[in-house]
Amino acid sequence: MIRHQQNSPPIVYKNANGKGVQVEETRIAVIMVGLPARGKSLIAQKVVRYLAWLSIPAKCFNVGSYRRNDTPQPTAEFFSKGNSEGERMRHAAAQAAVKDMVKWFDSGEGVVAILDATNSTKARRGWVAERCEANRIQTLFVESKCDNEDIIMANIMEVKTTSPDYTGQDPEDASQDFLNRIREYEKVYETIDEDEKHLTYVKLIDVGRQVIINQIKDYLQSRVVYYLMNLHIRPRSIWLSRVRNLPQHITTSGYPPLIVFLQHGESEYNLSGQIGGDANISERGELYAKALPELVAKSVSPDQKLIIWTSTLKRTNQTARYLASSSKGYDKLEWKALDELDSGVCDGLTYQEIADQYPEDFKARDDDKYNYRYRGGESYRDVVIRLEPIIMELERSENIIIVTHQAVLRCIYAYYMNVPQEQSPWMEVPLHTLIKLTPRAYSTQEERFRANIPAVSTWRGKGSTAKHQ
Ligand code: ADP
Ligand code: F6P
Ligand code: PEP
Repeated sequence: MIRHQQNSPPIVYKNANGKGVQVEETRIAVIMVGLPARGKSLIAQKVVRYLAWLSIPAKCFNVGSYRRNDTPQPTAEFFSKGNSEGERMRHAAAQAAVKDMVKWFDSGEGVVAILDATNSTKARRGWVAERCEANRIQTLFVESKCDNEDIIMANIMEVKTTSPDYTGQDPEDASQDFLNRIREYEKVYETIDEDEKHLTYVKLIDVGRQVIINQIKDYLQSRVVYYLMNLHIRPRSIWLSRVRNLPQHITTSGYPPLIVFLQHGESEYNLSGQIGGDANISERGELYAKALPELVAKSVSPDQKLIIWTSTLKRTNQTARYLASSSKGYDKLEWKALDELDSGVCDGLTYQEIADQYPEDFKARDDDKYNYRYRGGESYRDVVIRLEPIIMELERSENIIIVTHQAVLRCIYAYYMNVPQEQSPWMEVPLHTLIKLTPRAYSTQEERFRANIPAVSTWRGKGSTAKHQ
């Protein structure tokens, strides 16, 4: 998939069994560029999370944290051009970060590193490019450029006043000092321009309103760039549900785009303990479907237009049908990619029947649930790959309600919550329960709401064949 580079050592991707699944020779350093409070750290963390979700080893090297080892709480003056001691210490921090980054690549673990720093001068970028070239690391510079004072002020209030640089300080003083720090950087800041046209770079201007792309060289670079172009940076709420009881008032003000995830209501197969299939929802599932329009109306403000996404299967469409035909007239879109994990020859069986008829497969799945692929069906790894366009669309879209299935929900949840592959397939997602995820600058906040309509459990613990636990 990723193009071959000459003269660099091969990197073998390992799956959870320790078996090599791809042989690659790619080492990419994504070098962030821009004044402070331009979203660089946030973008860096999102890229790492996205790549890790796709099993591409990625790691962020934040120069600020290296600098904090020696200078934990600098004032703006530390960053001024005339402060030679400050300059020396900042260069030392950058050197330490680059050194660790190279070490990480050399260990054979790394494929994509993010160097998170301001890298705000041509001289600094030239130095980083030279260090990377000397170590056979490709570079992709990502500049975030934004001059909107209101956005910058909001960013400072949102993340900088709580930064470790200002622990224990008054937020007003902290934001004033941070503004002064930005003024210091502005004195020396050079945006990437014509002189650097030999570099591979992306410039995200005005929070992604304009994107300039230069010299993208290979598949993985273009994949990162495509992700960056789709990024929605505004905070918003995410709702995951097989839901019932939404809270009385969900405030979304200030967080315009809204996503609601619903697992389908309880199905006939859920009652009998069979997996897969295309069963109807049960009576209780129907009650849940009927309750949905009101629940959703309570959860979003009346002026918010919502689009419903379902899988192509009956149980999600039946769950969404009252919502789709409600007076709100939500548009509905079916995605094949949201269909439940395909259990191949085991489709329609109970876990006990699988254990009886395919004991080796049953054990193999328990041993490595993420990678186990049903005969003639899919693994969780396969589902993640087919969900990539969904994630991309979610990053771009506004106000979506997703009605989906247990395994698919786990995979989407894993993306937002950074759940390791060995854990995500075992995650409990009770029926008729809503999970609300609210992405914040550097983390995602989770709340769960249980509905008041009973439903069976579809969760199965390792080693067990219990129908309902
Ligand atoms: P930096 O690392 O550049 O100092 P941070 O990542 O700490 O900045 O800033 C996070 C804030 O930046 C968040 O409030 C986020 O909403 C905002 N943000 C994210 N992307 C961008 C962007 N492209 N331009 C401006 N602000 C952004
Ligand atoms: O039981 C409901 C269900 O959605 C099945 O259709 C599907 O095979 C299963 O859950 C996925 O969960 P697990 O991976 O834990 O078997
Ligand atoms: C920092 O010290 O917080 C920092 C990001 O350093 P630099 O601007 O030198 O990259």
